[in-house]
Amino acid sequence: MSDLIYVLNGPNLNMLGVREPAIYGSETLADVKVRCEKAAKIHDLSIDFRQSNIEGELVNWIQEARGQAQGIIINAGAYTHTSVAILDALQAAERPVIEVHLSNIFRRDEFRQHSYISLAATGVICGLGAKGYELALEAIGDLLKKKSGAAK
Ligand code: DQA
Repeated sequence: MSDLIYVLNGPNLNMLGVREPAIYGSETLADVKVRCEKAAKIHDLSIDFRQSNIEGELVNWIQEARGQAQGIIINAGAYTHTSVAILDALQAAERPVIEVHLSNIFRRDEFRQHSYISLAATGVICGLGAKGYELALEAIGDLLKKKSGAAK
C-alpha cells in the first residue's frame, strides 16, 4: 500500500486564484490539488488534501495525521508566523514534515521572514509557486523510501 501524506493548507489559501495573483499566482487551490494528485501518483503516494481557515482545525488534523499518515506537507499561511500551537502539533506528530510557501517569504514583509513551523520541518520550500507542492511530494517520498530501506 502506498504511503499516505496529509497536504494541509491554512487560512486564505481557499482564495487562491483571486487573492493577490501577482504574489500567489492565478492557479486556484483546486488546481494545486490536481497537481498534487498527479505528483503523488508519480511518487507512489496517496494524499489527503485539505484546507482550513481555523487554527484549531489544522491542529486537529495534524494530531490525526500522527495516527493516519506517514508524512505531512503544510502551507500554514499566516499561522506560519504566529502559531506555537501548530508548531507543537507538528513536533508531536513524529513524522517527516515539509513546509511549503507559494511566495518567497524572505523577500516579503519582515514579519513573514520568521516561521514557527520551520522548527518542526524536515525541509522548507518557498518561492516556487504551486510547483513547490510537487517538489515537496517528491522529497517526502524520498525521505519515506530511505526510512523504510533503513528498517529492512
Ligand atoms: C504563504 C505566505 C504567508 O506569509 C501568507 O500569510 C500566506 C501564504 C505562501 O504560501 O506564500 O497566506 O504561506
